[in-house]
Amino acid sequence: MKIGIDSIAFSTSRYFFKLETLAAHRDVEFEKYSNGIGQIMMSVFPPNEDIVTIAIDAAQKAISRIADVGTIDLLIFATESSFDLSKAAGIYVHHFLKLKEECRVIEVKQACYSATAALQLAKSFVRENRDSKVLVIGSDIVKYSSGSSGEPTQGGAAVAFVVSADPHILIIEDGSGVHTNDIMDFWRPISENEALFDGKLSAYNYLKSLDISFNRYLTKTQRNISDIDCVCFHAPFGKMAKKGAQQIKWRESIDNTLLYNSVIGNSCSASLYICLMSLLDQSKTPLEGKRVGLYSYGSGSVAEYFSGIISEKYRSYITPEENQRTLESRKEISFEEYELFCKNLPDSPHKNYENTGTVRLKSIENKRRIYGEIKN
Ligand code: CAA
Repeated sequence: MKIGIDSIAFSTSRYFFKLETLAAHRDVEFEKYSNGIGQIMMSVFPPNEDIVTIAIDAAQKAISRIADVGTIDLLIFATESSFDLSKAAGIYVHHFLKLKEECRVIEVKQACYSATAALQLAKSFVRENRDSKVLVIGSDIVKYSSGSSGEPTQGGAAVAFVVSADPHILIIEDGSGVHTNDIMDFWRPISENEALFDGKLSAYNYLKSLDISFNRYLTKTQRNISDIDCVCFHAPFGKMAKKGAQQIKWRESIDNTLLYNSVIGNSCSASLYICLMSLLDQSKTPLEGKRVGLYSYGSGSVAEYFSGIISEKYRSYITPEENQRTLESRKEISFEEYELFCKNLPDSPHKNYENTGTVRLKSIENKRRIYGEIKN
């Protein structure tokens, strides 16, 4: 049975911050960010946006393109930016999307790897339940402390995709290479709003895990690198993905996979899938029937190298104009506003900021998050 991604969409904040402005305030040459790190902008989030509001926006777009929403029997919300240790963030999404009561909702976590774990679980679920669909959401907002070396690698976005039999976009192949090891390269204790990290160790482990998982993938599937037509990597920042391509001695430029991430910044669980969307939207050559290799890495760490075959009719199911609009309609904020956004989170929703989608975080009352539809 062919199982994979039938519909896919992303969402991000209505606001972006230029790294050129950050460089000027941090007394760093902008070329370090643009060339050394490979990023030029990052999405930044006002207090009334969070992983739920952008997830709702992405999911609304993704399910609007499938005929039978009633066959969604499972919603998996993948995130490392969760604000609740008990209630799954996906339940708010389930409510605003008006999914049926019989649909299960769970949340999964393993840093930036979690949406890939969700995809593999969804694939098994559909294999067992041929007529069911699974809605997978990866939604993360990445924050490091102001002035830290991680600051230019912040960002955030949500990706939502529907996993089904006979998918219109990407068939996920059997066989992958997995590597798990216990390492403190990036983590966020419960008390912290910002992630802690060891930047050099994280970059080292990203590449080491790539080596191991990629070679396991080749051995398991009995393939050679020449059997892969194009590649996407988890992109915490563009240069990291490019170093990944060098590591496996990839022969071509991966620039067309990084166009969206270079202006969104790191979106953790969503990042690899936004690279995939960038590839599908931006590739100058036809991709029908091509094999795409995908590297997913989540600090801590779990890595998986897997692959998919791009569906014959994928062009009718992708949305390059919508994706371009999402990015181009964002508003630039000043350094002062950036600092305000950094300070203001997480418990002071503010009604005057524009939202990305149809739902905003209205208030937090008695530690309950109250979401509401935006009335024009
Ligand atoms: N012009 C051009 N390039 C310049 C430059 C200039 N003026 N100045 C410096 N550079 C180059 C450096 O030579 C270096 O290039 P190489 O990596 O090719 O050597 C690059 O810019 C970065 O410079 P530094 O090594 O000095 O970087 P830094 O100490 O400021 O930190 C960072 C960079 C490690 C990426 C840091 O931003 C960070 O730790 N980010 C968070 C952690 C992270 O994203 N890790 C990625 C792997 S973990 C993961 O994938 C999970 C996840 O999503 C977090």
